[in-house]
Amino acid sequence: MDFRLIFFEILWLFTLLALAQPSPALQQRISDAIKDAANQTNPDYTAFVNPFIGTAKDGNVCPGASIPFGMVKFSTDMTGYAPAGYVSNVSEYIRGLSPLHDSGTGSSLGTYGNFEIMPVLCPGGFETCTTSLNGRQRFRKPDSDDGAPGYFSLTLDNNIKMEATPTRRSGLERFTFPPNTKPYFVLDLANDLPVSFAGGELNIDPELGRITIGGRYGSSFGPGRFNYQAFACYDLLDGGKQKLEEFGVWTADNYGLNAKGLGLTHLNLSLNLIGGVYQSGALFSLLPENPEANELNVRVGISFRSTEQACANAESEIGSATFDEIRERARLLWLEKLSRIEIDVAGSPPNVTEMLYSSLYRSFLTPNNATGESQGVFADTNAFYFDSLYCSWDTFRTFFPLLSLHSPVEYAQIVDTYIDGWRKHGWMPECRANNLQGWTQGGTSADNIVGHFAVHYYNEAQRLGIDLQELYQAMVTDAEVNPPEWNIQGRQVNVYKQYGYVPFAVLDTSSTGRQTREGSRTLEYAFEDFAIRQVAQLLDKPEDVERYTNMSLFYRNIWDTSVESDGFKGFFQKRYSNGTFFYNNPIDCSPNDKNETRACSLQGTNTNGFYESSSWEYSLFVPHDTAYLIELIGGRETFVKRVDHFFDKGYYLAGNEPSFQTPVEYHYADRPTKSVQRVREVVFQNFGIGPGGLPGNDDQAAMATLLAFHILGLYPVPSTTQYLVLSPMVPRYTIHNPFLGVSTTVRVVNYDAKSVAEKIPPGASAYVKDITVLASDGTVRWSTVEDPATNGTATPSRGSRCHFDFYDTFRLGGEIVITLTPDTHHVDSCGGSLPDSISTGGWNKARK
Ligand SMILES: *[C@@H]1O[C@H](CO)[C@@H](O)[C@H](O)[C@H]1NC(C)=O
Ligand SMILES: *[C@@H]1O[C@H](CO)[C@@H](O)[C@H](O)[C@H]1NC(C)=O
Ligand SMILES: *[C@@H]1O[C@H](CO)[C@@H](O)[C@H](O)[C@H]1NC(C)=O
Ligand SMILES: *[C@@H]1O[C@H](CO)[C@@H](O)[C@H](O)[C@H]1NC(C)=O
Ligand SMILES: *[C@@H]1O[C@H](CO)[C@@H](O)[C@H](O)[C@H]1NC(C)=O
Ligand SMILES: *[C@@H]1O[C@H](CO)[C@@H](O)[C@H](O)[C@H]1NC(C)=O
Ligand SMILES: *[C@@H]1O[C@H](CO)[C@@H](O)[C@H](O)[C@H]1NC(C)=O
Ligand SMILES: *[C@@H]1O[C@H](CO)[C@@H](O)[C@H](O)[C@H]1NC(C)=O
Ligand SMILES: *[C@@H]1O[C@H](CO)[C@@H](O)[C@H](O)[C@H]1NC(C)=O
Repeated sequence: MDFRLIFFEILWLFTLLALAQPSPALQQRISDAIKDAANQTNPDYTAFVNPFIGTAKDGNVCPGASIPFGMVKFSTDMTGYAPAGYVSNVSEYIRGLSPLHDSGTGSSLGTYGNFEIMPVLCPGGFETCTTSLNGRQRFRKPDSDDGAPGYFSLTLDNNIKMEATPTRRSGLERFTFPPNTKPYFVLDLANDLPVSFAGGELNIDPELGRITIGGRYGSSFGPGRFNYQAFACYDLLDGGKQKLEEFGVWTADNYGLNAKGLGLTHLNLSLNLIGGVYQSGALFSLLPENPEANELNVRVGISFRSTEQACANAESEIGSATFDEIRERARLLWLEKLSRIEIDVAGSPPNVTEMLYSSLYRSFLTPNNATGESQGVFADTNAFYFDSLYCSWDTFRTFFPLLSLHSPVEYAQIVDTYIDGWRKHGWMPECRANNLQGWTQGGTSADNIVGHFAVHYYNEAQRLGIDLQELYQAMVTDAEVNPPEWNIQGRQVNVYKQYGYVPFAVLDTSSTGRQTREGSRTLEYAFEDFAIRQVAQLLDKPEDVERYTNMSLFYRNIWDTSVESDGFKGFFQKRYSNGTFFYNNPIDCSPNDKNETRACSLQGTNTNGFYESSSWEYSLFVPHDTAYLIELIGGRETFVKRVDHFFDKGYYLAGNEPSFQTPVEYHYADRPTKSVQRVREVVFQNFGIGPGGLPGNDDQAAMATLLAFHILGLYPVPSTTQYLVLSPMVPRYTIHNPFLGVSTTVRVVNYDAKSVAEKIPPGASAYVKDITVLASDGTVRWSTVEDPATNGTATPSRGSRCHFDFYDTFRLGGEIVITLTPDTHHVDSCGGSLPDSISTGGWNKARK
């Protein structure tokens, strides 16, 4: 090797190490906070949150400053693949700081990123400022990115520091320039991350020191012909403490266009029909209050309705409050949410504490609360309005179930938005993104989101503002009414009902949609029908219960007994309308697929029959009837071997939602200790506290909430109140449900921190032996202990070592004592009832 090359390699390595982002001080601060909290009764849970987890390795997490469910999330926008704006990769440049982002989505170009502001140094004055995207971009200062709930900070390599702190629809930005430099700013009208500008205006009011800006932009994950509108209001004078000096407008490109209009105050641009990035905006300089500190405060209001409303939002939500005041208000909002789950910090491994609270943080980060900011058909709605629901296929499995344990008020508001989607569009939304309808993935996963709410809050629904009859009507519409185009809402209902599965290559004369994913759509539709069955049962509609129970079994119609893979027989496959199966190798689209170019997502060339998955993966997905799936596969023993093989051979995709339930499926084969071992392995192989600590896109906290359930030792079955019980990774936790006014403490007897590892060491206590559920007064509600009578008044067992029900536990409050043992031998069975399956009489009566 050439000497110079070695030199550069070493230099490069050194650079990489030296340029770590976020700042190492962040982790140090979190570690110290966790240590200090060991003896505190009311710890500051916000101090345990690392917002940068998932900002590398395509986690696509937005570490930006937001309040819980904030409509704005202030973060920098970077070059390269950065759907959430920010990435921790130090080789990417910063283009500016902007107020609108989503977190965890997988869109390739990104989502939002409108109204970027970039602080710049222009020693030669106004005319010499670099305004174009490429001209103004800069690297970061090493080890400087920082953040916390409600706060974001990044320092450029020219030592300009940018900070932001939010309210729901506005925020304060603080820029600190190096001493003796003149602060200039480039404000961008025509750029958002997906390069979707479709026309807009910018106006500078020099007297007010205000720039209003807004226009029409396109979706990050949906039809390109749909546009949404967004507006911003930048107040530049900090209540009169700062002065606007020079101002004007600019237009630029990378090929020589670099035009500036000093003193001009107006831009009115239309859609650039030839496409590509259109670069234009405002340029201005500010005089700070204190030239020595050289610190500038900018107030930003956002609205999806008008510039007037954007200004009013900033005025009402921030007014003249200072940066530190807004930051403290945001912190308190976060603290209130994060305190809904409290753990024994002293007894828990610090990394687990950090992973849990960072996951909880993201579980309250999205969807974005745009109530009062609705547009289009929702403009006049009285309902709550949430943006960025993408996609329901991701979030129904763990995100909403976690919300159901502690936050029914927030959950009900989001359910309201789903039902309102049905009122205004005719079907419930699947993948609302950027206020627009996005692509459907598995069908109408909203059914499982509202269904899960209904079964948990039947008694309180009305008080929470939800009419369950209306909710049910919305679900039935999803199942029965064929939309004209099922790519953006609804399902391909007519042919599904006619054939009992979504047929491949079928003549469909009643609707359009991309003819792909027939296998996975059948499986998801069937599970959506199960959700409807559950609500029909709740509302005492026996005929509907029968209808939707039958339809929930349609998954059986695509089981092809003849397909074999790795010695295992029987797989789901897509199927022609004449009944003949279409063979696809079950390995296709799995991590073991050698074909790097195979299309596995929404592409028309995806001929595999499954969405973002292999048949190996989806052939383990029948959450409502796993007992029958076990029969199809050949009985418990073969099933356990097959699940083992699935993991050991590498078909499992930790970052993919259809895989979420697989690690705990041993429960259904009466082998709960294997689920415990598998979950430990999954967590420690795929999750961590670094920027790369997620196995894939966070998908609006789908991944975060899966991890939270794994840490808590629970797994939810959507649209049911049943929870599978595993082995908590913390010795004690309490879930508070402020709306119900109850708190439930899970106390782990024989907890052993040594078991919290990828492989549970022999002798480490980790396996569930017994569960006892106690009322707040200490009386035993039920117990797996043989003679619970000795402990008080026992009711008949309503669960087993493997599962319990919300109505016996978190609904009522009290204590759940989980006793662990190192002895796998004696506890590797549910010791009573298995978790429910439709075909074995499960859910035969609604719990209310
Ligand atoms: C917590 O308090 C106990 C008893 O007062 C003490 O021994 C221990 O060192 C404290 N732990 C921490 C982390 O401060
Ligand atoms: C970081 O960004 C650089 C520049 O775009 C890119 O070449 C590199 O692959 C990225 N690294 C990672 C780990 O993504
Ligand atoms: C901006 O331009 C559009 C046409 O492109 C026009 O309809 C609109 O009135 C203009 N706005 C102003 C304020 O001039
Ligand atoms: C905790 O996280 C750090 C940093 O990622 C890692 O080095 C350490 O191994 C982790 N410890 C455990 C017990 O997982
Ligand atoms: C959403 O915003 C509305 C209007 O401010 C508020 O009433 C509601 O509580 C918010 N909901 C959540 C979940 O943040
Ligand atoms: C449901 O399926 C059963 C058994 O196949 C059948 O007897 C019954 O008529 C079906 N009910 C409805 C409402 O489709
Ligand atoms: C069903 O249709 C497919 C596609 O046209 C054809 O290949 C197959 O032979 C047909 N099966 C039967 C049983 O007719
Ligand atoms: C790989 O997949 C592509 C796209 O589906 C397909 O056209 C091609 O034939 C496949 N290659 C092999 C070797 O199977
Ligand atoms: C039940 O009673 C036994 C014997 O009195 C006691 O040791 C045990 O801690 C009790 N269990 C619970 C869950 O209270």
